Amino acid sequence: MEKTVQLKTMELFYAKDFAKLANNKAIQKNMRDVFPFPYKEKYAIDFIKKMTSSSNNNVFAIFYKGKLAGAIGLHRMDDINRFTAELGYWIGEPFWNKGIASVAVKKMIQYGFQNLDINRIFASTLETNIASQRVLLKNNFIFEGISRKSAYKDGVFLDEHRFSLLENER
Ligand SMILES: CC(C)(COP(=O)(O)OP(=O)(O)OC[C@H]1O[C@@H](n2cnc3c(N)ncnc32)[C@H](O)[C@@H]1OP(=O)(O)O)[C@@H](O)C(=O)NCCC(=O)NCCS
Repeated sequence: MEKTVQLKTMELFYAKDFAKLANNKAIQKNMRDVFPFPYKEKYAIDFIKKMTSSSNNNVFAIFYKGKLAGAIGLHRMDDINRFTAELGYWIGEPFWNKGIASVAVKKMIQYGFQNLDINRIFASTLETNIASQRVLLKNNFIFEGISRKSAYKDGVFLDEHRFSLLENER
């Protein structure tokens, strides 16, 4: 599994396949609204351009058995939080429940702590996103707590569950 899941530098020519996978309500309902539905190729192009032109964003394409399967990134915070990065990821629905996100997160953590001069990685999940919570716990993230009804998604207020991992805990 470690070998079949690869993180590759994000490239503009992935945009078409990226948009095809991302264009899915089942993914979007677990993401921030900045991730649109429908998800058009133009949006993928803009996203990839933005992510590859800023040193605070480290976004990789996730490949599974040689096919584009999703995306993962670390986004550095600023000011007094500048040694913290937020982790975000999604996997295309045809690839769910094969352990891909769990391995991608493991690889992203290793990359982040080795290369980005950060001491903390965190992630926020909607209360309903049990699969994502599982992926984080499997990677030794600690459950920090609940931001009550902090998210407004699809017309409903939802809790956010926050998880973090410190460099010396991995
Ligand atoms: C969350 C997501 C990234 C998981 O990707 P994945 O590659 O399927 O994850 P994995 O296969 O590595 O692990 C999923 C785990 O959740 C479990 N799981 C999945 N659905 C579940 C459910 N409804 N209830 C309980 N557990 C569930 C799986 O059994 C697995 O755990 P296990 O390995 O202990 O059996 C994927 O579903 C996704 O992209 N969702 C939409 C976008 C999203 O949620 N992004 C994260 C935002 S915080």
